[in-house]
Amino acid sequence: MLGITVDGLLREAKADERLIDVINRSGSKVPQVCYHPQLGPIQTCDTCMVEVDGRLVRSCATTVSEGMSVSTTSAAASDAQREAFDRILSNHLLYCTVCDNSNGNCTVHNTTKLLAVEHQNIPFRTKPYEVDNTNPFYRYDPDQCILCGRCVEACQNLEVNETLSINWEDPHPRVLWDGGSTIGESSCVSCGHCVTVCPCNALMEKSMIGHAGFFTGLPEPALDGMIDVVKGIEPETGYGTIMRVSEAEEAMRESRIRRTKTVCTYCGVGCSFDVWSKDRHILKVEPLDGPANGVSTCVKGKFAWDHINHKDRLTKPLIREGDEFREASWEEALSLMARRLSEIKAQSGPDSIGLISSSKCTNEESYLMQKLARAVVGTNNIDNCSRYCQAPATVGLFRTVGYGGDSGSITDIGQADLVLIVGSNTAESHPVIATRVKRAHKLHGQKLIVSDLRENEMARRADVFLHPSPGTDILWLSAVTRYLIDNGLAKTDFIDKWVNGFDDYRKSLEPFTLEFASERCGLPVDTLKKVAHMIADAERVCILWAMGVTQQSQGSDTSTAISNLLLITGNYMRSGTGAYPLRGHNNVQGASDFGSMPNNLPGYQSVDDPEVRKRFEAAWKVTLPSSKGLDNHEMVAAIQEGKLKAMYLFGEEMSIVDSNANYVSDAFSKLEFFVVQDIFFGVTCQFADVVLPAAPSLEKEGTFASTERRIQRLYEVFEPLEGCLPDWRIIQDVANRLGAGWHYKHPSEIMAEIASLTPLFAGVTYERLEGYRSLQWPVAADGSDQPLLYTKEFAFPDGKARLSPLQWLEYPEQPDAEFDLHLNNGRLLEHFHEGNLTYRTEGIREKTPDTFVEVSPELAAERVIQSGTWVQLTSRYGKVRVRALVTDRVHGKELYMPMNSVESPVNRLTSSNTDPVTHTPAYKEASVRMTVLQELGDNPLPRTNSRWGHPTPQHGVEVERKWQRADYRTPGPQLVQIQPRQAR
Ligand code: SF4
Ligand code: SF4
Ligand code: SF4
Ligand code: FES
Repeated sequence: MLGITVDGLLREAKADERLIDVINRSGSKVPQVCYHPQLGPIQTCDTCMVEVDGRLVRSCATTVSEGMSVSTTSAAASDAQREAFDRILSNHLLYCTVCDNSNGNCTVHNTTKLLAVEHQNIPFRTKPYEVDNTNPFYRYDPDQCILCGRCVEACQNLEVNETLSINWEDPHPRVLWDGGSTIGESSCVSCGHCVTVCPCNALMEKSMIGHAGFFTGLPEPALDGMIDVVKGIEPETGYGTIMRVSEAEEAMRESRIRRTKTVCTYCGVGCSFDVWSKDRHILKVEPLDGPANGVSTCVKGKFAWDHINHKDRLTKPLIREGDEFREASWEEALSLMARRLSEIKAQSGPDSIGLISSSKCTNEESYLMQKLARAVVGTNNIDNCSRYCQAPATVGLFRTVGYGGDSGSITDIGQADLVLIVGSNTAESHPVIATRVKRAHKLHGQKLIVSDLRENEMARRADVFLHPSPGTDILWLSAVTRYLIDNGLAKTDFIDKWVNGFDDYRKSLEPFTLEFASERCGLPVDTLKKVAHMIADAERVCILWAMGVTQQSQGSDTSTAISNLLLITGNYMRSGTGAYPLRGHNNVQGASDFGSMPNNLPGYQSVDDPEVRKRFEAAWKVTLPSSKGLDNHEMVAAIQEGKLKAMYLFGEEMSIVDSNANYVSDAFSKLEFFVVQDIFFGVTCQFADVVLPAAPSLEKEGTFASTERRIQRLYEVFEPLEGCLPDWRIIQDVANRLGAGWHYKHPSEIMAEIASLTPLFAGVTYERLEGYRSLQWPVAADGSDQPLLYTKEFAFPDGKARLSPLQWLEYPEQPDAEFDLHLNNGRLLEHFHEGNLTYRTEGIREKTPDTFVEVSPELAAERVIQSGTWVQLTSRYGKVRVRALVTDRVHGKELYMPMNSVESPVNRLTSSNTDPVTHTPAYKEASVRMTVLQELGDNPLPRTNSRWGHPTPQHGVEVERKWQRADYRTPGPQLVQIQPRQAR
């Protein structure tokens, strides 16, 4: 710490702190239009000028030094601030009373007030450009753009999509998309970063326009008239009076605009944000300072919320009558459910019933569902869809380090010197985590190695891209590990102190030579050596992996190989290191954490541990089943065998997201009784006897656990649509109909019960999770949590990690003469999973209307296919009809299909083969033949999809180019000391 003087008062500052942050903390008010703490100094606006030891400096770009004497209000500083802001106003028409951005947080409005501006010295000048409305979610108004560059900085250096720039050399600078495209046809991925950080109304969410203000919805001529009135009276009254009118109107807005914190309902990154709403209209999603995401979002979290008020929402229970469904009352539906489940239990025993929890729903709901299964039905047949993706990663970590979760936080990934991504399309599947890697790679010299079948965005950015043959990741990972050991590059001090099982593990590596790996993986030996040396040379390494690893028949072993590699290189126990299996659904981590697993009670407490059962039995006042139940894969097989007769499933489109969908659907059609609870009538509902209308995330309270083990609260934005109920209430009603006697009035009571029974969550309370506060498990009773795991020891009784011996096996579903092509599948940026939520958002459909199959240029040439050609893919299990997209993202005879389709789901083609340890389907190991249909449709990716754009990478906003303009001079008396550009 050091001492500086701000306006005559002594202030403490950290050695490397920005002066503007110290001033803001001190309570002194300095204008700061372009500064945003999460973007760092941009230096475009010049409004933050202060006098330091007799010289004018931009306070955002100045680092404090001992004894610095700062005046924020000297005549020179005040003149400079005012002059700089005058220039801003020459680019922006002040019509706050009829502006949808005038909600108390408009930087331009607030700065006008702070500086008590009465009249502009430089008049407003229009720019010779039209408003750009070509993006479905936001618009750009050049006339209102103050050229602060925040949006450019966010797009170039935070999102790192590199779409935006400013043409500083132009007589009329403006923000450009891809150097001059329309927004709609640019590389913009609609992540919303630029809109979120824009300090005025130049970039605005279309959902705000005409809705936020009392007068802003008026027809354009009336609005123009009002603006003219304001301009007409300004010379006489000054802005002060006009501002007071606008502030009165702004205060009125407060009475009808609600801002409610929630957590994203899509992927496992765990982005949190405020939802602005007016009645049931979503005005906008505003990320502020989310613990996982800061101001970041992707298109889904920022804009894909039309499902909430969609006309297709289920609002009444449905009961099957033959081949039809009829609407029913809750009373009738729940009575029928209770009667049929009781009958089946009486006839065939509790294990003839299976329950499936939702990875989209809350921790409290997952907990209640497993409690219903165990304490009320009396079975351990309970599971969730983490079996479909994440269970192998969890096993790999349980085997080696003890906890089945990410070993650190997203910030650790950003701090690493080297990130290795294996089998993850991070930029599309976990977009906000990808931004942290892209930023560190672009700005801070982080190295990036990507291994994937496809040349996805991260692969294109990587320093080394590996394209191994399908199903061989375990081979090259183990070969690299062996090479490191054999060449004295292992961290022996770390291994000696912290790791067991080295000798057996080393022996198991015997077959894994670089030469063998090279031959089977199709990767050059030199490339593997390069990868090994990059890992050895890096001080801190993080490995990220996802379904490209876990959805293989050796998913658990490959996950184990990743953790083994981290242990051999000492990349645990420090910030910036560790293992990061990227969780798919928003609460897939929590669904398992909170007990929806056939072998574990909440907090991974085994059902066959008598001590554990005793604790739960005492609390729940029941006797619990003691043997492991069926997982979801086994449940399907048990239905086919006639052993499982009834199922209760919520929030899971299992009939198309489980592999071998035809087989799963066939099983569902054989159930004696099937209850599906969801917000839409999906494909799985077609097999149900009773369908119950549930509430989506914005209509309930509870908590989610994200990929970094972060537990966060979501608050109710809207009351449930009439007729719908939050899942926890429905599950409680079902339990009580079956005689349970539960009385939870709020999810906080459920969490209190969980905490009392589960050491992993002992200190979790709703108070400790208030607002944007969060906890990363394990959480001790005193509330202390662990953002970084294993800081003191590994989670085994002796505190040491365990290397786990492995072998490689060929996967069974190899291509052959009949099924000659390998089919891979995965996510797309714009859609989530099968798309049952995201297809409801019109703008998303506009950008990405349907699924497709990616075909390599060489295969397309051989089979005479072009983008838009209809093909039929046939596997050993089914067939789908789909349009081709020719792209060099895929190579040779490898195809790729996004999983987002209800009509042509890729899982009609996948098999029932699984990872033997977890029963996770080997989704990524499909073989198909492709029949070209003589039918040509439109390109499945319209011209407005971001993939067609041409990004314009540059170093942020490049303010130096503005400073070089002939008409630029620093504001105020010419005392300015130009600051060198700061590293951010
Ligand atoms: S990608 Fe598009 S929405 Fe995202 S910051 Fe860039 S311009 Fe804005
Ligand atoms: S559009 Fe960009 S440059 Fe213009 S005011 Fe908004 S953030 Fe600043
Ligand atoms: S989908 Fe994932 S990355 Fe996108 S906003 Fe939601 S949590 Fe964040
Ligand atoms: S806040 Fe804009 S230059 Fe410092």
